[in-house]
Amino acid sequence: MPEDGLRPVRSARPYRADAERSYVLAPNYYTDPAIWEREKQAIFYKAWNLAGHEGQLARAGDYVTCRIADQEIFVIRGKDGRIRSFYNVCAHRAHQLLKGSGSAKVITCPYHAWSYHADGRLRTARGTEHVAEFNPDDFRLKEVAVETMAGFVFVNLDSGAASLASQVGDLPAEMLRYQPDLPKLKFAHRLTYNLKANWKNVVDNFLECYHCPPAHPAFVDLVAIKQYRTKTYGLYSSHISPPGRPDNSAYRFTAASDRPNDFAAWWLWPNVTFNVFPGDANITILHIMPTGPETTAEHFDFYFLNDKPSACEQDAIKYVDEVLQPEDIGLVESVQRGLHSRGYQGGRYVVDAGRTDVSEHGLHHFHGLVLTALGEAPA
Ligand code: FES
Ligand SMILES: [Fe+2]
Repeated sequence: MPEDGLRPVRSARPYRADAERSYVLAPNYYTDPAIWEREKQAIFYKAWNLAGHEGQLARAGDYVTCRIADQEIFVIRGKDGRIRSFYNVCAHRAHQLLKGSGSAKVITCPYHAWSYHADGRLRTARGTEHVAEFNPDDFRLKEVAVETMAGFVFVNLDSGAASLASQVGDLPAEMLRYQPDLPKLKFAHRLTYNLKANWKNVVDNFLECYHCPPAHPAFVDLVAIKQYRTKTYGLYSSHISPPGRPDNSAYRFTAASDRPNDFAAWWLWPNVTFNVFPGDANITILHIMPTGPETTAEHFDFYFLNDKPSACEQDAIKYVDEVLQPEDIGLVESVQRGLHSRGYQGGRYVVDAGRTDVSEHGLHHFHGLVLTALGEAPA
């Protein structure tokens, strides 16, 4: 076949189970609407997805909403103290029930005011006493699985899914080791972004720090970059580095004496990352939410000991919002355009036996999970 730029590249440059011999995931995985449709079914409707934090569900009636691909979901604490999750859709004619987060004594649909209990039972439905053979039990909200991990609330649309706890291994213990104050942290600040990039392109960027020296000059001052190490496990990977200088060019911090000061981050399948930055007790969540084949929304949420950030924490937020995120968003949006180029044929993973700071094995691990979910993993 002629080298005309239109030749399919997947078979010529395949993903292989052996990272040292593998080409990267082919460009069409990042652009093709048909693959995004398959990912919805095979990944997002089957995986545990982040919905919020237990702090948002402290009292009966407290709720939080989330979107998983194209599915609206809410999580609510009932009068019995139990947290339950439901599709966020009215059983009458499909209006959305709850928005954002807050507290609802009763779940009332804004359209015709059908109302529901927090356990999903239909409570009132105006006029249905005149409707023949109307059975309220036929109009319960459809429940989905919910589980918490390290204070974070996850939901799963697959009723047959294995528990989250059984899938995450030592992740909660490892998070606690690097952030012993984790149970005390409160939501303090959210940054929101909309990216012109496929969700996997954004995850890819998180999973390697090969790009850090050229692209993040301040970050490589904040951490001891030569000691940055990525380790892969089942459905997650860890990305940990000792801290750099407290008076670095990203933001100044005071080293704690009672806990590690490392930059410690974890990616959890398919699209959430937890990050402990050097400085005052913190954890940040980068939630990478696909909104289409080539668009992604991000929430960058900061949890601190106080819901009012300290001076160091304000500096960290400013650094993330004004430096780190613009740097990464510029990178992934450039890559997204490049994935359409007739001149790009698919590169190689840069991996080394020592799995050092420049190794892209975390990316290879993620792509293997994507292909496995799609039923395309190489033998
Ligand atoms: S759609 Fe909700 S009450 Fe009609
Ligand atoms: Fe980056």
